[in-house]
Amino acid sequence: MLTKRWNIHQENPDYQAIREAAELLRDGRTVAFPTETVYGLGADATNEAAVSGIFRAKGRPEDNPLIAHVATKEQLRSLVSTLPSVAEKLLDQFTPGPLTVVLPSNGVCAGNVTSGLSTIGVRIPEHPVARELLKACDIPVAAPSANISGKPSPTTADHVWEDLNGKISGLVDGGSTGVGVESTVVDCTQDVPIVLRPGGITKEQLKAAVGSVMVDPALANTEESPKAPGMKYTHYAPEVPMWLVAGTPEDLQAIIDREQDGQKRIGAMVSTATADKLQADRVIQLGSDLREIAASLYDALRIFKNGDVDLIVCETFPQTDIGQAIMNRLKKAATSYVDK
Ligand code: TXA
Ligand code: MG
Repeated sequence: MLTKRWNIHQENPDYQAIREAAELLRDGRTVAFPTETVYGLGADATNEAAVSGIFRAKGRPEDNPLIAHVATKEQLRSLVSTLPSVAEKLLDQFTPGPLTVVLPSNGVCAGNVTSGLSTIGVRIPEHPVARELLKACDIPVAAPSANISGKPSPTTADHVWEDLNGKISGLVDGGSTGVGVESTVVDCTQDVPIVLRPGGITKEQLKAAVGSVMVDPALANTEESPKAPGMKYTHYAPEVPMWLVAGTPEDLQAIIDREQDGQKRIGAMVSTATADKLQADRVIQLGSDLREIAASLYDALRIFKNGDVDLIVCETFPQTDIGQAIMNRLKKAATSYVDK
């Protein structure tokens, strides 16, 4: 399949390119586009065959539901059977933006969008290119992250191209995304909203808006459980093994020195402050605060290629603010969790 690529400047969008991309979506084809979190791989959410194209291109398991993207709250309302007041509050406060609400589906979207569940995840993205595209096609667009299943999510069009060139109909290149980790997924079908996936909107922000918020117990469990060997390379995985190390820069250096003595070439993924104190074969600086670290995380996970280094050593970060999402993704990406 030939993948058409358009370059769009956020400040001065090329409406002709957006119209062409929208036309492909309306025609039942798959088109990748930028959002403020990560690039999404879109298809008409009301067209089952079109949505199948997403699962095929990504190699995604069919039992993992997709998020429907819409331009407005009215359009969101047209996909759900009820909009509880708590969901409405969250939407009013945080959207357009990196929040996905899970609500009872009314069946307008195709069955494979929700993987047969009675609920649907819906989000109104904030990225100007995503908004223009959604307005131009005027259909709900199902869109998971535009990566091959299991790999880190894409934060640039080149990441998408690396994974999906030849497998999708179009790619709208709108530059780098902003937040860098995916939207916060919040189940709003109960009285108290439940965070299913930490993301761009933090638990503290949600609590400030609606009072009580719960967190899916499955998220808390990953806190203490180190990766089982069989769980390797299932999510966000770089090409080489990665150890997530809780400890001081000196602890990290001791591990790097030991592994280098064992003839391994080591890549380090650390904050700017830690980078100043470390030596490794390659050091990737993620940034000086949690927001910067989130924005550069997935690019860093894609930088290390097979044959480049043998092992990545990554430091841990405080689980405050967007640090919750960062640590959630790093734990899934790591092959081992080392607690000094
Ligand atoms: O920021 C984002 O959310 C990006 C951009 C492209 O919008 N999209 C994204 O989609 O991350 P995806 O498919 O990679 O992740 C969607 C997550 C999955 O963990 C999925 O299981 C969950 O949302 N999800 C979707 N619908 C759901 C539902 N009805 N109930 C529970 N979880 C749901
Ligand atoms: Mg994904």
